[in-house]
Amino acid sequence: MAKIKKAFFCQNCGVQSPKWLGKCPSCNEWNTYVEEIIQSDKEEKIWENKSNSRNVKPVLISEISLSDEIRIDSNNNELNRVLGGGIVPGSLVLIGGEPGIGKSTLMLQIALNLKDLKVLYISGEESEQQLKMRAERIGSSNNNCYVFTETSTQNIFAQINEIDPQVLIIDSIQTLTTSVIESSAGSVSQIRECTSELQRFAKQTSTPVFLIGHITKDGTLAGPKILEHMVDTVLQFEGERNYDYRILRSSKNRFGSASELGIFEMQNNGLREVSNPSEILISHKDEQFSGVSISATIEGMRPILIETQALVSTAAYGTPQRSSTGFDTRRLNMLLAVLEKRCGFRLGAKDVFLNLTGGIKVDDPALDLGVVCAILSSNEDIPIAEKICFAAEVGLSGEIRPVNRIEQRISEAEKLGFEKIIISKYNNKSVKQKNYSIEVVLVNKIEEVFSFLFG
Ligand code: TYD
Ligand code: MG
Repeated sequence: MAKIKKAFFCQNCGVQSPKWLGKCPSCNEWNTYVEEIIQSDKEEKIWENKSNSRNVKPVLISEISLSDEIRIDSNNNELNRVLGGGIVPGSLVLIGGEPGIGKSTLMLQIALNLKDLKVLYISGEESEQQLKMRAERIGSSNNNCYVFTETSTQNIFAQINEIDPQVLIIDSIQTLTTSVIESSAGSVSQIRECTSELQRFAKQTSTPVFLIGHITKDGTLAGPKILEHMVDTVLQFEGERNYDYRILRSSKNRFGSASELGIFEMQNNGLREVSNPSEILISHKDEQFSGVSISATIEGMRPILIETQALVSTAAYGTPQRSSTGFDTRRLNMLLAVLEKRCGFRLGAKDVFLNLTGGIKVDDPALDLGVVCAILSSNEDIPIAEKICFAAEVGLSGEIRPVNRIEQRISEAEKLGFEKIIISKYNNKSVKQKNYSIEVVLVNKIEEVFSFLFG
């Protein structure tokens, strides 16, 4: 009988130690060491065995030929965009997100829409009936889509050999166990070993593999950081639970830009692709309200117009409240301090609430001016004239600073029928007014914007 080997693993970064440690020397987290059993030599590793028999040798990079079709079309424009133009054969893609956000729905929908390819959907979380019910709800069918409810990688690879799928989906990596390691499912060594088995499979057979991953309370992917290092692409599926919009964001992509964004809307029959986000993120009202402004932001490669709503009211209690949804609260506090100190607006004793519509989170600095104007509009109780939008950063001394890719922002605003866009004076070099029918207003200070808007 093989000897049982044990070691302690940091559950945060995956570092191994022969003894328990209070603080991880690698990632400095406290109380993350857990003892796990690593029982090697018990059974051979399924994929390692194969690779030996295949006799893989080093090759010259100049002699490696690329097939013509490097990307597989996922039949979903938003996913294609986030992946950098389609699914790369042999890639390992990790999709993380909070429970109930729609990860399983998204992947099952992708599986059902890959009509020409044989897809194997492995679920360790749901029964076949549940998967069928979800497929019925999504309403598309695919005669080449197999589902398999299993958690042992050994059984999974046995079925893979049988079915020979062209795309593999694992829901979720935390439920898998390999017989090579004896610790429980979801532990660091299990996640690491299962991922590396799947990685070997993906690379050797050029099959794309999608892994669904859980995230922890603080929003990071559950399991060791090493998981994110092992995969080629990390996607985050996020959104506010009370809103229908879902955002697929890439935070790592070996085959494309890592700042791309896909937008979906959760409907009764699955996720709908949102190809023109600006139109839904701006509410078209008949009446004019104070405290509402529109900003031209850029997410990934795409310009998106976003509506900001602010409410400024006299603080009922001693300490004024500042809260924001979708916009960084620290940045909001900074903008309020700039308004107070540099521009003389007395907001110190006021409650300020800020909301980006649609439950979207944005960290583009070009949103600053729109946020400031929404706050001022609510404070003055004067609506901002319709058809005006903003794209500029606000500096600490109250100056209006230029932002990148201004032409794209202006074009998007123009396309959506805006008549004026307010930008920084320092963007003027890259902007030629005669190219646009929209009026480009150049400003330098918040006071100028204030008198332009509210007279
Ligand atoms: P699910 O894919 O199970 O989430 P995850 O795998 O990330 O935990 O998402 C389920 C949620 O989505 C659930 O609250 C129901 C909702 N939903 C719809 O609104 N429409 C649909 O067509 C489907 C399949 C689910
Ligand atoms: Mg799920």
